[in-house]
Amino acid sequence: MSERTPARPDPVRQEEFTGRMLQVLNDSCLGHLCSLGHRVGLFDVMSGLPSATSAQIAGAAGLDERYVREWLGGMTVGGIVEYAPEDGGYRLPPEHAAVLSRAAGPDNMAAFMQYLAMMGDVEDEVLAAFREGGGVPYSSYPHFQDVQAEETARVYDAALTGTIVPLVPGLTGQLRSGIDVLDIGTGQGHAVNLLARAFPGSRFVGMDISAAGIATARAEAARWGLDNARFEVADTAELTGSYDLITAFDVIHDLARPARTLAAVANGLRDGGIFLMGDIAASSELSENIGHPLGPTLYALSVFYCMTVSLAEGGAGLGTAWGRQAALRMLAEAGFGEVETREVPGDILNVYYVARKR
Ligand SMILES: C[S@@+](CC[C@H](N)C(=O)[O-])C[C@H]1O[C@@H](n2cnc3c(N)ncnc32)[C@H](O)[C@@H]1O
Repeated sequence: MSERTPARPDPVRQEEFTGRMLQVLNDSCLGHLCSLGHRVGLFDVMSGLPSATSAQIAGAAGLDERYVREWLGGMTVGGIVEYAPEDGGYRLPPEHAAVLSRAAGPDNMAAFMQYLAMMGDVEDEVLAAFREGGGVPYSSYPHFQDVQAEETARVYDAALTGTIVPLVPGLTGQLRSGIDVLDIGTGQGHAVNLLARAFPGSRFVGMDISAAGIATARAEAARWGLDNARFEVADTAELTGSYDLITAFDVIHDLARPARTLAAVANGLRDGGIFLMGDIAASSELSENIGHPLGPTLYALSVFYCMTVSLAEGGAGLGTAWGRQAALRMLAEAGFGEVETREVPGDILNVYYVARKR
Protein backbone atom coordinates (compact mmCIF):
# COMPACT_ATOMS: atom_id res chain seq x y z
CA MET A 1 0.00 0.00 0.00
CA SER A 2 1.42 3.36 -1.00
CA GLU A 3 1.85 5.96 1.66
CA ARG A 4 -0.54 8.89 1.47
CA THR A 5 1.11 12.28 1.08
CA PRO A 6 -0.19 14.52 3.83
CA ALA A 7 -1.97 17.53 2.31
CA ARG A 8 -0.19 19.98 4.53
CA PRO A 9 0.16 23.52 3.11
CA ASP A 10 3.60 24.73 2.18
CA PRO A 11 4.05 27.68 4.61
CA VAL A 12 5.99 29.77 2.09
CA ARG A 13 3.37 29.37 -0.61
CA GLN A 14 0.64 30.01 1.96
CA GLU A 15 2.35 33.20 3.05
CA GLU A 16 2.71 34.34 -0.56
CA PHE A 17 -0.92 33.57 -1.29
CA THR A 18 -2.09 35.44 1.79
CA GLY A 19 -0.19 38.46 0.50
CA ARG A 20 -1.84 38.11 -2.88
CA MET A 21 -5.30 37.92 -1.30
CA LEU A 22 -4.55 41.01 0.74
CA GLN A 23 -3.67 42.76 -2.49
CA VAL A 24 -6.93 41.55 -4.03
CA LEU A 25 -8.87 43.03 -1.12
CA ASN A 26 -7.03 46.33 -1.28
CA ASP A 27 -7.29 46.61 -5.05
CA SER A 28 -11.00 45.74 -5.00
CA CYS A 29 -11.57 48.56 -2.51
CA LEU A 30 -9.49 50.92 -4.62
CA GLY A 31 -11.65 49.98 -7.59
CA HIS A 32 -14.77 51.10 -5.74
CA LEU A 33 -13.10 54.36 -4.75
CA CYS A 34 -12.05 54.89 -8.38
CA SER A 35 -15.63 54.34 -9.48
CA LEU A 36 -16.78 57.03 -7.07
CA GLY A 37 -13.98 59.34 -8.16
CA HIS A 38 -15.10 58.94 -11.75
CA ARG A 39 -18.78 59.48 -11.01
CA VAL A 40 -18.28 62.66 -8.98
CA GLY A 41 -15.68 63.99 -11.42
CA LEU A 42 -12.76 64.09 -8.98
CA PHE A 43 -10.24 62.64 -11.42
CA ASP A 44 -11.27 65.22 -14.03
CA VAL A 45 -10.96 68.07 -11.55
CA MET A 46 -7.62 66.86 -10.20
CA SER A 47 -6.19 66.36 -13.67
CA GLY A 48 -6.56 70.10 -14.18
CA LEU A 49 -5.09 71.12 -10.81
CA PRO A 50 -1.55 71.39 -9.50
CA SER A 51 -0.89 69.98 -6.02
CA ALA A 52 -3.91 71.14 -3.97
CA THR A 53 -5.41 70.67 -0.53
CA SER A 54 -8.53 68.64 0.06
CA ALA A 55 -10.47 71.88 0.60
CA GLN A 56 -9.28 73.28 -2.73
CA ILE A 57 -10.08 70.04 -4.55
CA ALA A 58 -13.50 69.76 -2.92
CA GLY A 59 -14.18 73.40 -3.76
CA ALA A 60 -13.20 72.94 -7.39
CA ALA A 61 -15.37 69.81 -7.65
CA GLY A 62 -18.29 71.26 -5.71
CA LEU A 63 -18.17 68.38 -3.22
CA ASP A 64 -18.18 67.86 0.54
CA GLU A 65 -14.60 68.30 1.86
CA ARG A 66 -14.81 65.58 4.50
CA TYR A 67 -15.74 62.93 1.93
CA VAL A 68 -13.16 64.18 -0.52
CA ARG A 69 -10.44 64.05 2.15
CA GLU A 70 -11.30 60.46 3.06
CA TRP A 71 -11.37 59.49 -0.61
CA LEU A 72 -7.99 61.18 -1.08
CA GLY A 73 -6.69 59.11 1.84
CA GLY A 74 -7.58 55.91 0.02
CA MET A 75 -6.19 57.23 -3.25
CA THR A 76 -2.92 58.16 -1.51
CA VAL A 77 -2.30 54.88 0.30
CA GLY A 78 -3.34 53.06 -2.87
CA GLY A 79 -0.64 54.82 -4.88
CA ILE A 80 -3.01 56.64 -7.22
CA VAL A 81 -2.57 60.14 -5.82
CA GLU A 82 0.65 61.70 -4.47
CA TYR A 83 0.50 63.42 -1.09
CA ALA A 84 2.86 66.04 0.37
CA PRO A 85 2.43 66.04 4.19
CA GLU A 86 4.38 69.29 4.54
CA ASP A 87 1.68 71.38 2.85
CA GLY A 88 -1.25 68.91 2.74
CA GLY A 89 -1.17 68.91 -1.07
CA TYR A 90 -2.59 66.08 -3.19
CA ARG A 91 -1.61 65.63 -6.82
CA LEU A 92 -2.83 63.30 -9.53
CA PRO A 93 0.23 62.57 -11.68
CA PRO A 94 -0.40 63.20 -15.39
CA GLU A 95 0.36 59.55 -16.19
CA HIS A 96 -2.47 58.52 -13.84
CA ALA A 97 -4.82 61.21 -15.13
CA ALA A 98 -4.23 59.79 -18.59
CA VAL A 99 -5.95 56.53 -17.55
CA LEU A 100 -8.48 57.83 -15.04
CA SER A 101 -10.05 61.00 -16.42
CA ARG A 102 -12.84 61.44 -18.94
CA ALA A 103 -10.36 63.08 -21.29
CA ALA A 104 -8.69 59.66 -21.54
CA GLY A 105 -11.64 58.48 -23.69
CA PRO A 106 -11.41 54.72 -24.33
CA ASP A 107 -8.33 54.52 -22.06
CA ASN A 108 -10.33 55.65 -19.02
CA MET A 109 -10.10 52.74 -16.57
CA ALA A 110 -12.00 54.52 -13.79
CA ALA A 111 -15.24 54.38 -15.77
CA PHE A 112 -14.87 50.61 -16.01
CA MET A 113 -14.78 50.35 -12.20
CA GLN A 114 -18.48 51.28 -12.12
CA TYR A 115 -19.25 47.63 -12.87
CA LEU A 116 -18.00 46.70 -9.40
CA ALA A 117 -20.81 48.42 -7.54
CA MET A 118 -23.31 47.17 -10.09
CA MET A 119 -22.23 43.61 -9.35
CA GLY A 120 -22.71 44.22 -5.64
CA ASP A 121 -26.24 45.48 -6.31
CA VAL A 122 -27.35 42.05 -7.56
CA GLU A 123 -25.22 39.80 -5.35
CA ASP A 124 -28.18 38.51 -3.31
CA GLU A 125 -30.07 37.57 -6.47
CA VAL A 126 -27.01 35.87 -7.96
CA LEU A 127 -26.56 33.99 -4.70
CA ALA A 128 -30.13 32.72 -4.93
CA ALA A 129 -29.49 31.61 -8.52
CA PHE A 130 -26.45 29.59 -7.41
CA ARG A 131 -28.77 27.65 -5.10
CA GLU A 132 -31.92 27.47 -7.18
CA GLY A 133 -30.76 27.93 -10.79
CA GLY A 134 -32.32 30.51 -13.09
CA GLY A 135 -30.87 33.96 -13.29
CA VAL A 136 -31.17 37.67 -12.62
CA PRO A 137 -33.47 39.54 -15.03
CA TYR A 138 -32.60 42.77 -16.86
CA SER A 139 -35.05 44.63 -14.63
CA SER A 140 -32.65 44.13 -11.69
CA TYR A 141 -30.01 46.32 -13.35
CA PRO A 142 -31.38 49.86 -13.45
CA HIS A 143 -27.92 51.36 -14.03
CA PHE A 144 -26.29 48.74 -16.22
CA GLN A 145 -27.36 50.16 -19.54
CA ASP A 146 -26.02 53.62 -18.69
CA VAL A 147 -22.66 52.23 -17.56
CA GLN A 148 -22.45 49.98 -20.61
CA ALA A 149 -23.43 52.78 -22.97
CA GLU A 150 -20.89 55.11 -21.40
CA GLU A 151 -18.18 52.48 -21.80
CA THR A 152 -18.95 51.59 -25.40
CA ALA A 153 -19.58 55.21 -26.44
CA ARG A 154 -15.97 56.01 -25.51
CA VAL A 155 -14.85 53.26 -27.88
CA TYR A 156 -17.26 54.19 -30.68
CA ASP A 157 -16.43 57.89 -30.47
CA ALA A 158 -12.75 57.11 -30.79
CA ALA A 159 -12.77 54.20 -33.19
CA LEU A 160 -16.07 53.23 -34.87
CA THR A 161 -15.82 55.02 -38.19
CA GLY A 162 -12.05 55.36 -38.40
CA THR A 163 -10.93 51.94 -37.13
CA ILE A 164 -13.73 49.41 -36.70
CA VAL A 165 -15.61 49.97 -39.98
CA PRO A 166 -12.34 49.80 -41.99
CA LEU A 167 -11.73 46.33 -40.51
CA VAL A 168 -14.05 45.21 -43.32
CA PRO A 169 -12.35 45.95 -46.63
CA GLY A 170 -14.56 48.11 -48.84
CA LEU A 171 -17.20 48.77 -46.17
CA THR A 172 -16.47 52.48 -45.82
CA GLY A 173 -17.05 52.90 -49.56
CA GLN A 174 -20.30 50.92 -49.43
CA LEU A 175 -21.56 53.00 -46.53
CA ARG A 176 -20.73 56.17 -48.46
CA SER A 177 -22.59 54.90 -51.53
CA GLY A 178 -25.69 54.00 -49.53
CA ILE A 179 -26.67 50.66 -48.00
CA ASP A 180 -29.22 49.33 -45.51
CA VAL A 181 -27.78 48.62 -42.09
CA LEU A 182 -29.25 46.96 -38.99
CA ASP A 183 -27.63 47.00 -35.55
CA ILE A 184 -29.07 44.34 -33.23
CA GLY A 185 -28.95 44.78 -29.45
CA THR A 186 -28.19 48.42 -30.09
CA GLY A 187 -28.57 49.46 -26.42
CA GLN A 188 -28.74 53.27 -26.40
CA GLY A 189 -27.98 53.34 -30.12
CA HIS A 190 -24.91 55.54 -30.08
CA ALA A 191 -23.09 53.36 -32.62
CA VAL A 192 -26.00 53.67 -35.04
CA ASN A 193 -26.24 57.42 -34.60
CA LEU A 194 -22.52 57.90 -35.15
CA LEU A 195 -22.65 55.82 -38.33
CA ALA A 196 -25.79 57.58 -39.56
CA ARG A 197 -24.14 60.95 -39.05
CA ALA A 198 -20.92 59.86 -40.77
CA PHE A 199 -22.68 58.16 -43.70
CA PRO A 200 -25.76 60.20 -44.63
CA GLY A 201 -26.24 58.18 -47.83
CA SER A 202 -26.97 54.96 -45.90
CA ARG A 203 -30.06 53.97 -43.94
CA PHE A 204 -29.74 52.63 -40.40
CA VAL A 205 -32.00 50.72 -38.04
CA GLY A 206 -31.17 49.95 -34.41
CA MET A 207 -33.14 47.28 -32.53
CA ASP A 208 -33.15 46.39 -28.88
CA ILE A 209 -35.47 44.66 -26.47
CA SER A 210 -35.02 47.55 -24.02
CA ALA A 211 -37.59 50.31 -24.41
CA ALA A 212 -35.49 52.66 -22.26
CA GLY A 213 -32.44 52.11 -24.49
CA ILE A 214 -34.46 52.75 -27.65
CA ALA A 215 -35.93 55.94 -26.16
CA THR A 216 -32.42 57.26 -25.44
CA ALA A 217 -31.29 56.27 -28.94
CA ARG A 218 -34.22 58.10 -30.54
CA ALA A 219 -33.57 61.18 -28.43
CA GLU A 220 -29.94 61.34 -29.57
CA ALA A 221 -30.96 60.86 -33.22
CA ALA A 222 -33.44 63.73 -32.83
CA ARG A 223 -30.84 65.94 -31.14
CA TRP A 224 -28.46 65.31 -34.00
CA GLY A 225 -31.17 65.90 -36.62
CA LEU A 226 -30.67 62.48 -38.24
CA ASP A 227 -33.27 61.40 -40.78
CA ASN A 228 -31.48 58.18 -41.76
CA ALA A 229 -31.53 56.45 -38.36
CA ARG A 230 -34.56 54.83 -36.80
CA PHE A 231 -34.96 52.61 -33.78
CA GLU A 232 -37.33 49.80 -32.85
CA VAL A 233 -38.05 47.91 -29.66
CA ALA A 234 -37.79 44.31 -30.83
CA ASP A 235 -36.54 40.85 -29.92
CA THR A 236 -33.90 40.32 -32.57
CA ALA A 237 -34.30 36.56 -32.47
CA GLU A 238 -37.20 37.31 -34.86
CA LEU A 239 -36.06 39.61 -37.65
CA THR A 240 -37.99 40.99 -40.56
CA GLY A 241 -36.59 43.01 -43.45
CA SER A 242 -33.38 42.58 -45.42
CA TYR A 243 -30.09 44.37 -45.04
CA ASP A 244 -26.67 44.75 -46.64
CA LEU A 245 -24.90 44.98 -43.30
CA ILE A 246 -25.96 43.71 -39.88
CA THR A 247 -23.90 44.56 -36.83
CA ALA A 248 -23.96 43.20 -33.27
CA PHE A 249 -21.62 44.82 -30.80
CA ASP A 250 -21.15 42.96 -27.50
CA VAL A 251 -24.56 41.34 -27.77
CA ILE A 252 -24.59 37.73 -28.91
CA HIS A 253 -23.17 36.15 -25.74
CA ASP A 254 -25.82 37.91 -23.58
CA LEU A 255 -28.76 36.61 -25.55
CA ALA A 256 -31.25 34.03 -24.39
CA ARG A 257 -31.47 32.66 -27.94
CA PRO A 258 -28.10 33.29 -29.60
CA ALA A 259 -28.31 30.44 -32.14
CA ARG A 260 -31.75 31.51 -33.30
CA THR A 261 -30.62 35.14 -33.50
CA LEU A 262 -27.57 34.24 -35.61
CA ALA A 263 -29.82 32.26 -37.95
CA ALA A 264 -32.20 35.25 -38.15
CA VAL A 265 -29.25 37.50 -38.98
CA ALA A 266 -28.09 35.14 -41.75
CA ASN A 267 -31.62 35.06 -43.09
CA GLY A 268 -31.91 38.86 -42.96
CA LEU A 269 -28.79 39.49 -45.02
CA ARG A 270 -29.06 40.17 -48.73
CA ASP A 271 -26.78 38.36 -51.17
CA GLY A 272 -23.23 39.53 -50.54
CA GLY A 273 -24.26 41.00 -47.19
CA ILE A 274 -21.95 41.19 -44.21
CA PHE A 275 -22.47 40.41 -40.55
CA LEU A 276 -20.00 42.34 -38.38
CA MET A 277 -20.04 40.87 -34.88
CA GLY A 278 -17.95 42.50 -32.17
CA ASP A 279 -17.64 40.25 -29.16
CA ILE A 280 -15.37 39.43 -26.27
CA ALA A 281 -11.80 38.44 -27.11
CA ALA A 282 -11.39 35.17 -25.21
CA SER A 283 -10.90 31.49 -25.82
CA SER A 284 -13.60 28.86 -25.38
CA GLU A 285 -10.88 26.82 -23.66
CA LEU A 286 -10.67 27.90 -20.03
CA SER A 287 -6.99 27.01 -19.78
CA GLU A 288 -6.20 29.42 -22.64
CA ASN A 289 -7.79 32.28 -20.69
CA ILE A 290 -5.34 31.95 -17.83
CA GLY A 291 -3.23 35.07 -18.06
CA HIS A 292 -5.84 36.95 -20.14
CA PRO A 293 -5.33 40.57 -19.06
CA LEU A 294 -9.03 40.82 -18.21
CA GLY A 295 -9.63 37.19 -17.28
CA PRO A 296 -11.18 37.50 -13.79
CA THR A 297 -13.15 40.55 -14.92
CA LEU A 298 -14.73 38.61 -17.79
CA TYR A 299 -15.81 35.70 -15.60
CA ALA A 300 -17.10 38.04 -12.87
CA LEU A 301 -19.13 40.06 -15.37
CA SER A 302 -20.47 36.79 -16.71
CA VAL A 303 -21.64 35.50 -13.32
CA PHE A 304 -23.06 38.89 -12.32
CA TYR A 305 -24.56 39.89 -15.67
CA CYS A 306 -23.98 38.30 -19.07
CA MET A 307 -24.62 34.67 -18.22
CA THR A 308 -27.27 35.29 -15.61
CA VAL A 309 -29.49 37.60 -17.72
CA SER A 310 -29.61 34.90 -20.37
CA LEU A 311 -30.34 32.15 -17.83
CA ALA A 312 -33.07 34.34 -16.30
CA GLU A 313 -34.99 33.89 -19.57
CA GLY A 314 -34.29 30.16 -19.63
CA GLY A 315 -31.66 30.92 -22.26
CA ALA A 316 -28.37 29.48 -23.43
CA GLY A 317 -26.22 31.26 -20.81
CA LEU A 318 -23.17 31.28 -23.10
CA GLY A 319 -21.23 33.49 -20.72
CA THR A 320 -18.90 36.40 -21.41
CA ALA A 321 -15.94 34.14 -22.20
CA TRP A 322 -17.81 31.91 -24.67
CA GLY A 323 -14.80 32.48 -26.85
CA ARG A 324 -13.65 32.37 -30.43
CA GLN A 325 -14.06 28.64 -31.00
CA ALA A 326 -17.71 28.63 -29.89
CA ALA A 327 -18.41 31.81 -31.85
CA LEU A 328 -16.93 30.39 -35.05
CA ARG A 329 -18.83 27.11 -34.61
CA MET A 330 -22.14 28.91 -34.03
CA LEU A 331 -21.60 31.26 -36.96
CA ALA A 332 -20.95 28.26 -39.21
CA GLU A 333 -24.06 26.51 -37.87
CA ALA A 334 -26.10 29.63 -38.64
CA GLY A 335 -25.02 29.48 -42.28
CA PHE A 336 -22.00 31.77 -42.39
CA GLY A 337 -19.58 29.91 -44.64
CA GLU A 338 -16.89 32.56 -44.59
CA VAL A 339 -15.75 34.17 -41.35
CA GLU A 340 -12.64 36.19 -40.68
CA THR A 341 -11.58 37.60 -37.33
CA ARG A 342 -10.04 41.02 -36.91
CA GLU A 343 -8.63 42.84 -33.91
CA VAL A 344 -8.05 46.49 -33.17
CA PRO A 345 -4.49 47.04 -31.90
CA GLY A 346 -4.56 47.98 -28.21
CA ASP A 347 -8.14 46.72 -27.68
CA ILE A 348 -7.82 43.75 -25.31
CA LEU A 349 -11.58 43.37 -24.84
CA ASN A 350 -13.00 42.83 -28.31
CA VAL A 351 -12.58 40.72 -31.39
CA TYR A 352 -14.50 41.41 -34.60
CA TYR A 353 -15.96 38.62 -36.73
CA VAL A 354 -16.57 39.53 -40.37
CA ALA A 355 -19.04 36.91 -41.56
CA ARG A 356 -20.55 36.20 -44.96
CA LYS A 357 -22.94 33.55 -46.17
CA ARG A 358 -21.60 31.34 -48.93
C1 LIG B 1 -24.14 44.39 -23.58
S1 LIG B 1 -25.40 45.33 -24.28
C2 LIG B 1 -24.66 46.05 -25.74
C3 LIG B 1 -25.36 47.29 -26.21
C4 LIG B 1 -24.75 48.00 -27.42
N1 LIG B 1 -24.60 47.15 -28.56
C5 LIG B 1 -23.42 48.64 -27.08
O1 LIG B 1 -22.40 48.24 -27.64
O2 LIG B 1 -23.41 49.54 -26.23
C6 LIG B 1 -26.44 44.06 -24.96
C7 LIG B 1 -27.78 44.57 -25.45
O3 LIG B 1 -28.54 43.47 -25.97
C8 LIG B 1 -29.89 43.74 -25.70
N2 LIG B 1 -30.68 42.51 -25.84
C9 LIG B 1 -30.69 41.45 -25.02
N3 LIG B 1 -31.55 40.52 -25.48
C10 LIG B 1 -32.08 41.01 -26.62
C11 LIG B 1 -33.03 40.51 -27.57
N4 LIG B 1 -33.58 39.31 -27.42
N5 LIG B 1 -33.34 41.28 -28.62
C12 LIG B 1 -32.78 42.51 -28.77
N6 LIG B 1 -31.89 43.03 -27.92
C13 LIG B 1 -31.54 42.29 -26.87
C14 LIG B 1 -29.87 44.31 -24.29
O4 LIG B 1 -31.06 45.02 -23.98
C15 LIG B 1 -28.62 45.20 -24.36
O5 LIG B 1 -28.95 46.52 -24.72
